[in-house]
Amino acid sequence: MESEHEQTSPKNGVVGPKGFVSLVGAGPGDPELLTLKAYNRLQTAEVVLYDRLVSNEILAFISAHAQRFYVGKAASKHSVPQEGINQALVTWAKQGKRVVRLKGGDPFIFGRGGEELEALVAEHISVEVIPGITAASGCAAYAGIPLTHRDHAQSVRFITGHLQQIESELDWDALARPGQTLVFYMGLGSVETMSRELIAHGLPAETPVALIEQGTTNQHRTHIGTLATLPDAFLADQIKPPTLVVVGSVVSLHAKLAWFDRLSAKASGFHTGKHALLDKRS
Ligand SMILES: C[S@@+](CC[C@H](N)C(=O)[O-])C[C@H]1O[C@@H](n2cnc3c(N)ncnc32)[C@H](O)[C@@H]1O
Repeated sequence: MESEHEQTSPKNGVVGPKGFVSLVGAGPGDPELLTLKAYNRLQTAEVVLYDRLVSNEILAFISAHAQRFYVGKAASKHSVPQEGINQALVTWAKQGKRVVRLKGGDPFIFGRGGEELEALVAEHISVEVIPGITAASGCAAYAGIPLTHRDHAQSVRFITGHLQQIESELDWDALARPGQTLVFYMGLGSVETMSRELIAHGLPAETPVALIEQGTTNQHRTHIGTLATLPDAFLADQIKPPTLVVVGSVVSLHAKLAWFDRLSAKASGFHTGKHALLDKRS
C-alpha cells in the first residue's frame, strides 16, 4: 500500500484526494535564477496562482495545460485579498489538483508564504516549499555588492520599509549600529525617513547607499549615493519599484566589483524583460 507521502508527492506524478500545493519562489527576475525544482513543478502544474513580480519568461515555463490565475498585489492595492488566495489554494487542492503558488523571490521573505503555509497545514493539505533566490541576494550579486565582507560587514539585516508607522515600528538604534549591511525591501516610499532616522541614530551621513532597480533583469539599474543624498537621488532619477535599498560600507565595493549592467547584458544577448509592463524605458 502507498504511504500518505507517495499518494500525494508530485515526484511520482500521483496526486491523492486532497491534491498537492507547492509554494514556489521564482527568484528576483532573471529566469535562469529559477531552481530546477521550481521549473519541474511549473511543468507539471495543473493550476498556477502567480504574483506581480514574476516575469513573463518564467510564466512561459508553465505547462500549457495548466490554468493560471493572477493574484498579484501592487503596493497597498490587493487584486485578491490574502484570505481569498489562501482559500483558493485550499479549494484547488481539495479538488485533487497539483497547485503551484508562484511568488517573486523567496516565499518566506516578505512574501506571506508563511501565512499561506499555515492555511494549508490547518486544512491538512499536502504541501512543499521551494525556496527562491531572494531579491537581496540576487540584486546585490548583480550589482557587485557583497552583502557581507570581512572588511566591512559582519552581519546583514533584511527589513521591510512597508510599515504604517516606520519611524516608531523599527528599532533605529539597532539599525544604526556599525559593521552591518541593511537591506530594505519595499522601501521606496520611506527613503526620506530612512535617511533621516539612520543619521539621527548615529550612522554617518556619508554612509554609502545603493538603490537597485529591477535587479537581475535587463532593466537593472544601480544608483549609488549616500544617506545624505538618498532622498534627492531618488527623486532626480525617477526610480520605480521594484527597488531594493542597500545601506552600508559594502556598497563602496560596487565601484570596483560591478560586473553586470543592463547595457552589457543586452549586448551579450541577455533578454530578461521582467517588469517590462511597469517600466517602458529601454
Ligand atoms: C513584497 S516584497 C517580496 C520579496 C520577495 N519575496 C523576495 O524574496 O525577494 C517586494 C519587494 O522586493 C524587492 N524586490 C523584488 N524583486 C526585486 C528586483 N528584481 N529588483 C529590486 N527589488 C526587488 C522590492 O523592494 C520590492 O518592493
